Amino acid sequence: MFLGLDLGTSGLRALLVSSEGQVAASAEFGYEVMHPNSGWSEQDPANWIVACEKCVAQLRDENPDAFEQVLGLAVAGHMHGATLLDDQDSVLRPCILWNDTRSHEEAAALDAVAEVRELSGNIVFPGFTAPKLIWVARHEPETFAKVSKVLLPKDYLNLWLTGSHTSDMSDAAGTSWLDVSAREWSDDLLRASGMGRENMPTLVEGSACAGTLKPELAKSWGLSNDVVVAGGAADNAAAACGVGALAEGDGFISLGTSGVLLVARNSYAPMPASAVHTFCHAVPDRWYQMGVILAATDSLNWLARQLGREAHELTSALGESIDVPSTIHFLPYLSGERTPHNDSQIRGAFIGLDISHGPEDLSRAVLQGVAFALRDSLEALRVTGAQLNRALAIGGGTGSAYWVELCATALNMPLDLPEAGEFGAAMGAARLAQCAATGADPERVMQKPKIARTVEPRKELVEDFEAAYVRWRAAYPALKEMS
Ligand code: XUL
Repeated sequence: MFLGLDLGTSGLRALLVSSEGQVAASAEFGYEVMHPNSGWSEQDPANWIVACEKCVAQLRDENPDAFEQVLGLAVAGHMHGATLLDDQDSVLRPCILWNDTRSHEEAAALDAVAEVRELSGNIVFPGFTAPKLIWVARHEPETFAKVSKVLLPKDYLNLWLTGSHTSDMSDAAGTSWLDVSAREWSDDLLRASGMGRENMPTLVEGSACAGTLKPELAKSWGLSNDVVVAGGAADNAAAACGVGALAEGDGFISLGTSGVLLVARNSYAPMPASAVHTFCHAVPDRWYQMGVILAATDSLNWLARQLGREAHELTSALGESIDVPSTIHFLPYLSGERTPHNDSQIRGAFIGLDISHGPEDLSRAVLQGVAFALRDSLEALRVTGAQLNRALAIGGGTGSAYWVELCATALNMPLDLPEAGEFGAAMGAARLAQCAATGADPERVMQKPKIARTVEPRKELVEDFEAAYVRWRAAYPALKEMS
């Protein structure tokens, strides 16, 4: 048995999985995101440990026989967070999360430093880790002076699990401190934000062993003393492992809080100017590229809150299949945007409202705006040479057949909906644990899910959506001009 943990932004999900990929038990426990100032987004790392303890207890209660057979575990986590530790490994301040934009000035300055994009393979986005440290040095110098180690969120959980400071390549790639081609810390990148190797954890591949579960934890969980803890992975890399997206051109579209269009690559082919993210995969010698939009289901949830309705009520009111494009354009930049604009200051808009429009029209516009933003990501990915001709569709938003058909048509690409089951980041983590604990080949362990249904683009509407996309695309520069 293998334990996969997904340290998500709103909660931790844990899965107990057999070596054949069968789920023996699952558990979830939520925690808060704090927004003490505009643009700030923080979490107390102590809550991750509480959530982990709760989930482990739930799994044990649900299936004690399976639980006691755990040979290995791995953690997947939300990326880019800065967990600052002193020389006793005490947490110095709340973790600054991936969706925190306070360090946008520091990010822009770092991004302009020669060789930073070249070595890190990416734009330094405001949510990335390095600019956060420059912000802390400027605004909280007393805290900065005490920083001994900087850990990504899942690596803090790994420290608690194993007692050692480690990170894996996929998560480290999102810091702007990793030489993403060489898969090692870059002294030049570290120096550019006042850091050094001594502040960094030891790097391992996600599918390799990072340590063993601390004896006191193993004892209190009722496990043997040699439970392997794998390097683990960034959430998106873990999700790619969960759906078997390892080979060149394998990819998925994820309609979650943020929206992601990801494609696996056999080689390193960065294209920072396109605002595409180029990161190491969680398995050796592989990379992946993705476009990230910051508000996918977040946009729908925002509208639902404004209308006093539930998000699923808004989508069910639209039925299962699409019609001609919405004439209202929605720009989903509620928290700024990453791909393709790299613009933390831009904010969203509705354009083309008519006196006859009501909630359903607004819902259609929001779903379409998100689909078009993902189309922007597809265009950006293609510039890198990535071939993505079909993709799996995953994430909470895929519960709406309407939205999936809309995305398939806006991207002009078939989308495969997996059969019900587990294939997210927690499953990817369990698979990494299996590789680390048994030495199994990732290619063999990370199978693709069975497909329940393929949603084809609506051929007769593709041209209309293409024209609507071209019109929608012209709105960003105008909006930028006004803001
Ligand atoms: C990726 C990113 C998000 C987070 C949160 O660059 O910031 O996908 O990992 O899940």
